Amino acid sequence: MGSCIAFHSYKGGTGKTTLSTNIAVLLAKKGYNVTLIDLDVYAPSLFSYFAGKISKLPNKWLNDYLLGSCQIDDFLIDITSTIRNHDINKEIAGKLHVGFSSPSTEYIIKMDQLQTIKAKAISRFVSLKDQLIIDKSADYVIFDTSPGLRFFAINAIAITDIVLLVLKMGDMDIAGTRTIVTDIIEPFRTEGTDAFLLLNRVKGYCIPDVLTTIVDNDNENNPHRHLTMVPDPEQINMSDLEKYLKEETTLDLLRSVPCYCDIQFSKREFLTSLTYPNHPFTAEMNNIIIGLENKINEKSRQ
Ligand SMILES: Nc1ncnc2c1ncn2[C@@H]1O[C@H](COP(=O)(O)OP(=O)(O)OP(=O)(O)O)[C@@H](O)[C@H]1O
Ligand SMILES: [Mg+2]
Repeated sequence: MGSCIAFHSYKGGTGKTTLSTNIAVLLAKKGYNVTLIDLDVYAPSLFSYFAGKISKLPNKWLNDYLLGSCQIDDFLIDITSTIRNHDINKEIAGKLHVGFSSPSTEYIIKMDQLQTIKAKAISRFVSLKDQLIIDKSADYVIFDTSPGLRFFAINAIAITDIVLLVLKMGDMDIAGTRTIVTDIIEPFRTEGTDAFLLLNRVKGYCIPDVLTTIVDNDNENNPHRHLTMVPDPEQINMSDLEKYLKEETTLDLLRSVPCYCDIQFSKREFLTSLTYPNHPFTAEMNNIIIGLENKINEKSRQ
């Protein structure tokens, strides 16, 4: 039986799209049948990331499906061959389908005016998950949601097996995250929804090695040999932070992901895990996948 995972956060810009996309492609690479849905219907970004990479433009969007004017097969796009082209090892053993939300203003306004057909949209949304997992044998359905307490994000939390709440280090919105846990996740816990924190953009990777390694002053070839070691004044004790986050939000930390300058400042390169399989970010994404697989196995044994 497949699993449904939602990436969510109270605040915007925490890394939901970056993490969900890279995890989706790595899951496909591992041999899973994966569907990634851009549920950020109010500020969609996934299509602009893939624009120019996919050969076929969507005829229909997730919005059309939710509004009742098309079926699942009309808006899902098989991008397995696209990601295979971006994988330097060409090793995609599984499949990746993506459902895009339309970036056009007309559609975004329509989604905000759904009030009148909310019940229908919800039932189509629930049916989307069931059809993907039951009829299309998806191993993973991944929702990249919009931040905060918006209609589809709340509904995604309601129907997912595992919610990953992404917090950006340096701007951890503890109060907002707690609100999401207490008001939205807790009521669904008894229905089997699990939730974990993902701490993203933790500092560390960008600190020059000279600050973190012992400098060999006797080695004349070492250009840094006269520099004095400066301990990082804000060094983070991860186990203290993990305890603090647990106390504040009641959730366990699944993983923490460092902040990588090359990712932060790249213009469009978001498939880092495929393009740079040896990048430490890729290793972090694979660690998250292992964590997820363990949680899913634990759940299935319960
Ligand atoms: N681990 C990381 N290291 C460096 N930069 C990162 C990392 N994760 C995400 N980013 C960068 O942070 C920015 C925001 O990421 P992203 O768009 O994925 O956030 P989001 O939560 O989806 O935002 P929104 O709420 O607007 O949808 C992007 O520029 C992305 O490249
Ligand atoms: Mg996003």
